[in-house]
Amino acid sequence: MNNLFPPPKKNASSETVNTRPEKAILVSVILDEGFGMDPDASLDELEALLNTAGGVSVGRVVQTRHAPEHATYIGSGKLEELYQLCRIRLADLVVFDCELTPSQIQNLENTLQDVRVIDRTMLILDIFAMRAKSSEGILQVSIANLKYSLPRLTGQGKDLSRLGGGIGTRGPGETKLETDRRHIKRKIQHLQEELSSLARTRENQRKRSQKSGLFQIALAGYTNAGKSTLLNRLCEENIYAEDQLFATLDPTTRRLRLPHFGEVLLTDTVGFINRLPHHLIEAFASTLDEVVFSDLVLLVMDASDPHFQQKTDICESILLDLFKKRNVLPPPFLYVLNKADRPESIFTVRTFPAAKNHVSISAKTGEGTSDLLTQIDAVLSQQKRPCTFFLPHEEAGRLSYLYQVALVQEVEYETDGIRIRAVCDAKTRGVLLPYLMTEKET
Ligand code: GTP
Repeated sequence: MNNLFPPPKKNASSETVNTRPEKAILVSVILDEGFGMDPDASLDELEALLNTAGGVSVGRVVQTRHAPEHATYIGSGKLEELYQLCRIRLADLVVFDCELTPSQIQNLENTLQDVRVIDRTMLILDIFAMRAKSSEGILQVSIANLKYSLPRLTGQGKDLSRLGGGIGTRGPGETKLETDRRHIKRKIQHLQEELSSLARTRENQRKRSQKSGLFQIALAGYTNAGKSTLLNRLCEENIYAEDQLFATLDPTTRRLRLPHFGEVLLTDTVGFINRLPHHLIEAFASTLDEVVFSDLVLLVMDASDPHFQQKTDICESILLDLFKKRNVLPPPFLYVLNKADRPESIFTVRTFPAAKNHVSISAKTGEGTSDLLTQIDAVLSQQKRPCTFFLPHEEAGRLSYLYQVALVQEVEYETDGIRIRAVCDAKTRGVLLPYLMTEKET
């Protein structure tokens, strides 16, 4: 782990406090407005997040309300129940499956005494802080963490001492600096400048790959769906794949050979989750651009997951939001229904809408992967379009390039240059963009 995210410090009053997993009680409040996922599933996911962060669940408390209680999110009776449960189960921590305000956290901690309270966003940020490996990833998580904590500093003297003290506290560190809001703002600005320079490098790399004429394919999908396993399978790589949430944060790009199209670039990116904190999406913008500017998105989903449909909806909505924010038309999607080796996948595959391009595979056993490659070829071929280019005479050399990569239909030599009609793919259109006069949808 990078030193920006130090391991939890030992508590001064107890040398052993962090040597055992922290025990947590999970709290869910079912509101009228809903969750996007059923509350049990959401709590299961919260538990998986907790386990990933190194904690264990020792109980759950659920309440149904029209709206959150202003001061403590849950009502006073439930809070009393929670207090008793914390005592009985010797809980160190309470995790709310929602976003809490600073004063709610403070009020809850005042009542629960000696038990820390964190929310879902803090837990996710904590895991990202653990997982960040590259300097870009570390910067992205630092910025998201600082931005989340900045409005939470007011009157949070107690809160500040939480840094470096267990789950939900692994953050940017440097406790003294974080007592000064102005200092934090300066720090965010400084980190953003560093990130921008890394983002520029990434942008240049992407432009270079675009110029190389290779198609770019992005692997996107819900966390733990099997993206890294698929990249390993297709590119015979050894990327970290784990039965843990957010095992990989940093984008990894590899070359992949397709039966028809030859070489393309395949990129694995950060996984999605329900209610992914928006600070993280903002901070990860430059790495998520790998998906936004791709020619094809392979949306990898775990077909054996009982919440397949909800998770697919969540991924689609995050992706469509990303394209909208960057003002980019979405590329084609190919749904990869993974984990076909599990019997639970059969129903999902049978009932998946035929209108959506999809393929059923097992990244683990390799079943269906040759089908996947054929489908990728087919989708990329469909992206060919009839276009007209105009090359000034001094650029005439580019005509031979067009003959190599496109179906040239007509060439006319005019006084100022050469007019060419050709059917070509998105890459070629990108490479020859300055000379592109018209293009038609096929
Ligand atoms: P994040 O890094 O969290 O985004 O996860 P990911 O989508 O990259 O998933 P990853 O490849 O790390 O796989 C998650 C778990 O699913 C691992 O335990 C894999 O072994 C398992 N897995 C992946 N593909 C398959 C599959 O086809 N079948 C089965 N049974 N398990 C699979």
